[in-house]
Amino acid sequence: MTVHERTQVGIVGAGPAGLLLSHLLALGGVESVCVENRSRAYCETRQRAGMLESTTVELLRAVGLGARLDAEGLEHDGIYLQFDGERHHLNFRELTEGRRVTIYAQTEIVKDIIAARTADGAALEFEVSDTSVTGFDSGRPLLAYTDARGTRHEVRCDAIAGCDGFHGITRRSIPAGGLTMLAERSYPYAWLGILAAAPPSTDQVIYCRHENGFALHSMRTPEVGRLYLQVPADEEISRWPDERIWAELATRFALPGWSLTSGPVQQKSITPMRSFVAAPMRCARLFLAGDAAHIVPPTGAKGLNLAVADVAALATALIRLLRDGDPSLADAYSGYCLERVWRSVHLSWWMTSMLHIAPGQDQFESELQLAQLRHLVTSRSAAAALAETYTGYAPLRYDPSTRLDAARLWPSVA
Ligand code: FAD
Ligand code: DHB
Repeated sequence: MTVHERTQVGIVGAGPAGLLLSHLLALGGVESVCVENRSRAYCETRQRAGMLESTTVELLRAVGLGARLDAEGLEHDGIYLQFDGERHHLNFRELTEGRRVTIYAQTEIVKDIIAARTADGAALEFEVSDTSVTGFDSGRPLLAYTDARGTRHEVRCDAIAGCDGFHGITRRSIPAGGLTMLAERSYPYAWLGILAAAPPSTDQVIYCRHENGFALHSMRTPEVGRLYLQVPADEEISRWPDERIWAELATRFALPGWSLTSGPVQQKSITPMRSFVAAPMRCARLFLAGDAAHIVPPTGAKGLNLAVADVAALATALIRLLRDGDPSLADAYSGYCLERVWRSVHLSWWMTSMLHIAPGQDQFESELQLAQLRHLVTSRSAAAALAETYTGYAPLRYDPSTRLDAARLWPSVA
């Protein structure tokens, strides 16, 4: 049996991008159906990002998603850079006239939005299969999927949002020639990440370059640490029992008078590292957002923040298009987003290249890395340039007392 339905925007994927888009559209009076092939529990526990730009925090607050973020998020004034046996603090708050970053896990953002959407009676379907998007190039977009009970749905839409991540189906549904840019770089290393019941041994995140490879000490709560180690690209997780992970972390972060507190490892996984940009982020009535359009290596924590920035712009564009009949922001969507995307692609590539040890790296490359790191910790203008992009590029402006207002959200285009 096939059920035929109608909505304004069909959203594929209930990661941060798809969920936030459905929330923002609803605030603007635009209806959507959001479908996700994983379970709700899986989406709510999948460990990923945790560092939010000030712009992301402001947006979440402005659209009614800030209560738990404000109560439980950990605000940081900056980061530590460690290299050559020394740890240096960069104070972003001073360098940017007040901007800070916030640790609040992606899992928690996802839980908050799902709770808000569910309370609102939203059309949000988990555990769907055989999702397809067709007709977006002919102006009659159709989102089709089979729900968890086995019923086939065909949803006629005005527009489709591809928020289904790097491995999703929407980008691959674009006909040959529809994407004019596919730029990619893979890196010869990966991150082994752990979540541990160990109180963080630092008040702010430490990015550490060590001869054995990069290490990052982050956190989730005052009781839970989130730590990462550079490992070879094809590494097997079975080669890293917990004791080996803690020993290697202690070696890379070692400083006289400082020690790393270890604890039970609750989760561990290995993430490959890649930069990828597909453009334009639109094909007729199909709009790509977040990891479906671009991914960055995690160094610098840009992936989640980019996904949020994309959907803020996309929601505004779709509200203008579908509620007010004005296509100008939809037409400008891809170009507008790509400017920020490439700036973040650059930051994450730069931080990755400066802090990781490549296989076979020679002394010339090592000295260049150290020269850049020394420059960052001795030059206010070098540190300010990093701080500006790290804390959030081109802040979006909101008026939370009104519905989304394109002119305020997107002043350069509106
Ligand atoms: P996703 O979160 O990938 O969401 C896409 C959703 O679409 C998924 O739920 C998926 O199940 C669903 N989907 C896929 N195909 C279909 C289909 N056919 N039908 C229906 N649904 C579908 N960023 C950082 O800033 N810091 C980090 O430490 C960090 N760590 C990461 C670790 C890993 C393993 C990964 C993969 C990413 C990490 N990132 C990190 C990046 C960050 O998490 C992503 O940029 C962010 O999740 C992007 O959100 P999104 O909604 O665009 O995509
Ligand atoms: C985290 C991840 C990052 O990639 C980063 O640069 C900083 C923090 C985190 O998971 O907390």
